[in-house]
Formats: sequence, structure tokens, C-alpha cells
Amino acid sequence: MASPAVEVQPMPSATEALNQINEIVTRYCESQMFFTACNLGIFEQLAGGPASAAELGEWLRLHPEPCRRLLLGLTGMGLLQRDGDRFANSPVAAYLTLHAPVPMEPLCMWGSLFQRSWSCLDDAVREFGPRWQQAFGATADEAFANLYKDPAALRRFCGLMSAYSIPQGQVLADAFDFAPYSRVMDVAGGAGGMIIEIGRKHAHMRGIVMDLPPVCEIADEHIAAAGLSGRFVSRSADLFAGPYPAGADVITLGWVLHDWNDDNCRRILRNCYDALPSGGALLIVESVLHDDHSGTPFGVLMSLHMLVLCEPGARERTQAEYRTLLEETGFRMETLVRLPAPRDLLIARKP
Ligand SMILES: C[S@@+](CC[C@H](N)C(=O)[O-])C[C@H]1O[C@@H](n2cnc3c(N)ncnc32)[C@H](O)[C@@H]1O
Repeated sequence: MASPAVEVQPMPSATEALNQINEIVTRYCESQMFFTACNLGIFEQLAGGPASAAELGEWLRLHPEPCRRLLLGLTGMGLLQRDGDRFANSPVAAYLTLHAPVPMEPLCMWGSLFQRSWSCLDDAVREFGPRWQQAFGATADEAFANLYKDPAALRRFCGLMSAYSIPQGQVLADAFDFAPYSRVMDVAGGAGGMIIEIGRKHAHMRGIVMDLPPVCEIADEHIAAAGLSGRFVSRSADLFAGPYPAGADVITLGWVLHDWNDDNCRRILRNCYDALPSGGALLIVESVLHDDHSGTPFGVLMSLHMLVLCEPGARERTQAEYRTLLEETGFRMETLVRLPAPRDLLIARKP
């Protein structure tokens, strides 16, 4: 039987088509305005109070006329507010400053680090492989080895992870009932952004951030800064070699499985299984695709992000694909909770 045809829709007018396509092709110009504003220190400078383009130009050594154009562009995107000739940070831009409650300025690494790999998307789609060599002249292993050896770059990378994982952790802390549990371990938890938020919200919880040694050092600083040193610790362990630290009855795995192919995911899940007691919970925090592999725009985009950055086979997965991986490694999948954040929550249990 022939498969059902894709519904044919009437062709839009040339103007409608142009409007839609023009919006698509210029979206990166908006991103670039954001990156430039971060790079030039505009949000940081405006944290001190509203200013005119001429004043900002003088303080930041920018030409006042292009500075004014950039400020107008940022105002159009909702990042600045304008009163006459003076500009101020909008409430959301307050997150782009050094003293923000959750610093989000590191998100501008999308315009430095990631943009270089995305610019090779044509070849990634042709060849089905990451773009490290093409974009950076180094393999992924070499690039990460260099990152782990460079404290300033690693701290910056951890800042990017935390910009995502802290808000995600705040949502997760509300979405899952931690009352029956006592110790949470975030496997490959980066600087600890996600589980520090669980620790803040659930005073009875103890926690372990597991990652590689140089990342654990940064996690320790974040744990101390959050006042959680009595209850939370970092422990280094290798994701694949294991064994993972013992003692947790909940494990969180956020933006880990999507980095790896199915064989490597099974290795990670088996290590999680071995580290948990019977009845222990596994919380997978990923953008879970729909059965037809569609998803939120960000989820679909991240699957391409995995294409340009990670090994072939790394991708965002559907609930059914996670269920298979979980059952193959002894877990029972319980529920998918859609969260009001970039990533969802899949709850699984060790029987
Ligand atoms: C994409 S980040 C996710 C961080 C964090 N879970 C989050 O949601 O923000 C992947 C993490 O895996 C860690 N990682 C990579 N390879 C690892 C390995 N072999 N053993 C332990 N951790 C590893 C990295 O250091 C990094 O912190």
C-alpha cells in the first residue's frame, strides 16, 4: 500500500515567502548582536545604571553611532529598554552580568566555540561525523584534553554548563519527590549546578558530584559557595571505567547520554545500575523527542548539535529509545515528565 502523501498546501505569495525566509536567514544576525554585546561588555556596563550611546561609547571605547545601532538592535530583541536616548538592561539582561543570581553570559560561547562547528554543518550532514578536526584542527579527545589542562578555559566551559544546569536543577528540585531519598549523585555533573539546586531545596539530601578531577575541583568551589560543604562533596570517577562512588539512592544523568552512541550509553547505564541500591531511582534529564523524532525546536536543534560535536550515534532520543537502553541494562522505565525547561525528566528505577 502506498504511504499517505504529504498534504500539499497552497503556495504562499512571494512576499509571504520572503518574509518567512528573510526571518530565517537573518536569525544569526540577532545571535551575533547578542554575542557582540557580551564581548564588548555592554550588559556589564549597563548594570551600573542607564546610559546613552555616547556615554557607553566613551566608557567602552566604541564609536557612538554603531554603538547606538547595536543598542537599538538589542532593544528590539528585549535585551535592553530605552527611555529617550538612554538605554538600560531589561530584566532578562540582568542575568547577563557578573553578579547575576545565575550568570548566563557564558551562553555567548554559542558564538565562539559552537559556531565554529556549526559552520561545518554541510560536511557533518554529508559525512555523519563531528567537526572538531575541520573546525579546530584537533580531534575531540585532543580538544578536551587541552580544555582539562587549561584552568581558565575549563572554568568558562563549566560556566556555560551551569547556565543551563542551575535553572534546570531548580525545576527538577520541584518536579521530583526527593522526600523518600537521602543521597543524590550527579554522574558527569560538571560544576554541580543541577544537584546544588536540589541540595538548596531539600535540606535532608546529601549529594555527590561525580566528574573528572579538574571539574571536581571547580564543583568543590561551587558547593562551598552555596554553603553545602557539610552535605555535598565531589568525587572523581571515569564515566566508562567506573566504578562510580557508592551510597546514592538517586542518580541524575543530565546531558550525558545524548553525548554518546548506544554502546557507550549502555556502559554508563550499567555503571549507574551497579552504583544504585535496589529501588534506587535514575533521573535522566534530556530533551526527549516524540515518537516520530520531532520535538521542541531546541530538542531538534540539539540533536544536530550532537552531530557536529559528538561521536556518530550521539543524539537526542525518543522515550522508546531510552526505554530500550534502560531495559537492556536492567532498569525499569517509569514516567516521562515534561518540564518547563530545555530538558525533560525520565524517571527509571532499579528493580
Ligand atoms: C555536557 S556536560 C554535562 C554536565 C552536566 N551534567 C550538566 O547537565 O550540565 C558533560 C560532562 O561529562 C564529563 N565527562 C566527560 N567525559 C567523562 C569521563 N570519561 N568521566 C567522567 N566525566 C566525564 C565532562 O567533564 C562534563 O562535565
